[in-house]
Amino acid sequence: MANRAATVLITGGAGFIGSNLVRQWLDDQSDDVVTLDALTYAGLPESLGDVRENPRHQLVVGDVADEALVKEVFADRQPRAVLHLAAESHVDRSIGEPLGFVRTNVLGTAVLLEAATRYWRDLPADRQAAFRFVHVSTDEVFGSAAESELFTASSPLLPNSPYSASKAAGEQLARAFAHTYGLPVVTLNPGNHYGPRQLPEKLIPKMILLADHGESLPVYGDGLHQRDWIHVEDGCRAIRAAAARGTLGERYLIGSGRSHPNLAIVAAICEEVDRIRGDGRKRRELITVATDRPGHDRRYAIDASHTRTALAWRPQIELPAGLASTVAWYLENDAWVNLAQDSLAARDRRVTSAPLA
Ligand SMILES: NC(=O)c1ccc[n+]([C@@H]2O[C@H](COP(=O)([O-])OP(=O)(O)OC[C@H]3O[C@@H](n4cnc5c(N)ncnc54)[C@H](O)[C@@H]3O)[C@@H](O)[C@H]2O)c1
Repeated sequence: MANRAATVLITGGAGFIGSNLVRQWLDDQSDDVVTLDALTYAGLPESLGDVRENPRHQLVVGDVADEALVKEVFADRQPRAVLHLAAESHVDRSIGEPLGFVRTNVLGTAVLLEAATRYWRDLPADRQAAFRFVHVSTDEVFGSAAESELFTASSPLLPNSPYSASKAAGEQLARAFAHTYGLPVVTLNPGNHYGPRQLPEKLIPKMILLADHGESLPVYGDGLHQRDWIHVEDGCRAIRAAAARGTLGERYLIGSGRSHPNLAIVAAICEEVDRIRGDGRKRRELITVATDRPGHDRRYAIDASHTRTALAWRPQIELPAGLASTVAWYLENDAWVNLAQDSLAARDRRVTSAPLA
């Protein structure tokens, strides 16, 4: 072990945030990185790009709910930290097919926590003290914020969708493992991320591609649902800050502190696509009303002031600049976009039973 570089284990590293985190970690930190990812429809090895040839990175294809595999990964790679991102992440799909969300986000998290605890307990004292399990939850566990309310670390968990309920259960398990066994857990509750390599089933990439193709842009309900958007590079920096400086047992909310209505986001995307294409079209006219989804939370709003001080972190990318670079990325990366669309189409072909709603 003496000459081996320290290693971190990133679950869900072939997904949107995970693939950006793996890249950032390898670029900015000295650790080797092991990615554990089941490569579901949401996990594209291509999102890891050149990283797949990097000798400091290893992709282990497997399920976080596979006890034997997870145990083996800990034993073989002896990580100094776990960054747990693997999840079923799409709220709409959780409304149609909730059970897969419980399996990965609750059972999978429990399997990972148990394996981490057994591994951590047997480490020598200095490595035990340095070990971290960073659990990436979501701001959606707090439910819908009232008009002037901001979520804080002491907001009650009031999840409204099967997705957010499964994430709340996962973070409660992480908290219980910290409390019961002393596992060094730090929990993050980030707002909505946007940026390169997000599957176009999510609002921002979906709207960019539809707008570019001149198709109608369906926005749920009155379009006034508000979200706190954070660029994925800032979100990844927050995860790294939590691993380096997070206080054990604490939770940190990650957001810009400003919430924006979906309609304003879609309108800004339209203007950016119009500007880049320069074809004189007014894509804003393509916006249409879609039937609202059941149980749709009206507003997420984050007070990240504690995180800014405690983790010495702040978002560096303002929304207008981040949106502009994100629009450009999707318009310039056809090969990735085609793979992502194929993966979504294949996922939809595999659905065998009628969605619950
Ligand atoms: N994207 C956001 O806006 C956002 C906001 C807040 C929190 N989060 C949380 O951040 C994490 C990452 O989100 P994302 O947007 O990158 O999700 P994503 O859907 O893009 O990626 C999820 C990854 O997890 C993998 N995965 C799924 N089930 C697995 C399993 N059983 N075993 C191993 N790997 C599995 C998938 O293959 C995929 O690579 C999730 O935990 C999510 O709840 C995301």
